[in-house]
Amino acid sequence: MIKIAPSILSADFANLERDIQKIASADYVHVDVMDGVFVPNISIGIPVVKSIRPTTSLPLDVHLMIVEPVRYVEQFCDAGADLVTVHVEADTEENIHAAIDKIHARGKRAGVVLKPATPAGAALPFLEKVELILVMTVEPGFGGQKFMAEQMEKVTELRKLIDEKNPGCELEVDGGVDPETCKTCIAAGANVLVAGSAVYKAEDIPARIAALRG
Ligand code: DX5
Ligand code: ZN
Repeated sequence: MIKIAPSILSADFANLERDIQKIASADYVHVDVMDGVFVPNISIGIPVVKSIRPTTSLPLDVHLMIVEPVRYVEQFCDAGADLVTVHVEADTEENIHAAIDKIHARGKRAGVVLKPATPAGAALPFLEKVELILVMTVEPGFGGQKFMAEQMEKVTELRKLIDEKNPGCELEVDGGVDPETCKTCIAAGANVLVAGSAVYKAEDIPARIAALRG
C-alpha cells in the first residue's frame, strides 16, 4: 500500500491545527525542520512538534534538515515524533549511528535521508538498522520545487537493496511529488510519498491525497 505524508511546510502556520485536520485521510504528517545551516532556510522546531502532537492521531514523520542531528533527536522524540529522519550528510557516520540509536532508545522509528547528489551507497551502513530511507527528489530547503526525475535510479537501487537486506524498511521520496510524478515514484519502488504544495494547493485535499496513491 502506498502511504501519503503531506508536508505541513505548505500549510498556514497560523492555522496549523486546522490544516492538519484537513489531511486526516493521509498516513503521516511530514514535519520539515530546518536550521538555516544545513539548508538555506529556517522553518519550525521542537515546540511546534509538541504543540501539534495532540491535534492528530496520525504518526509524525519529522525530517531533520539540521547539522549534527544527534544533538536534538531525543528532544524531538520526547516532543511527540513517531519517526525521526536524519541526513547522512549532516554528520560523521559514527554520529549518524549514534542518532539512530538514540531514536530507537526512545522507542521511536528512525530513518536516514539522502540529498540528490548523495549516492544510494551512502545509506548502506544504516540500511539494516533503520525503519525508513528517504530519497530527496529536490534540493532540501524549500517547498514547491521541480521534481528531479533522475533520482528514480537511486530509488530503484535502494528498493532492491531494501528487499534483499531489510524488507520491512520503508522507502520515502520528498520533493515535487504531484499526481503525475507520484506514478514515477511508485513505479521506481517508493512506498511513502511526501507532498507539500500538491496537497495544500488542492481545492479538494482528500481527493488529492487519494490521487497521489497512484
Ligand atoms: C523540502 C522539504 C519537503 C517540502 C516538499 O526541503 O523536505 O518536505 O515540503 O514540498 P513540495 O511537495 O512542495 O515539493
Ligand atoms: Zn521533507
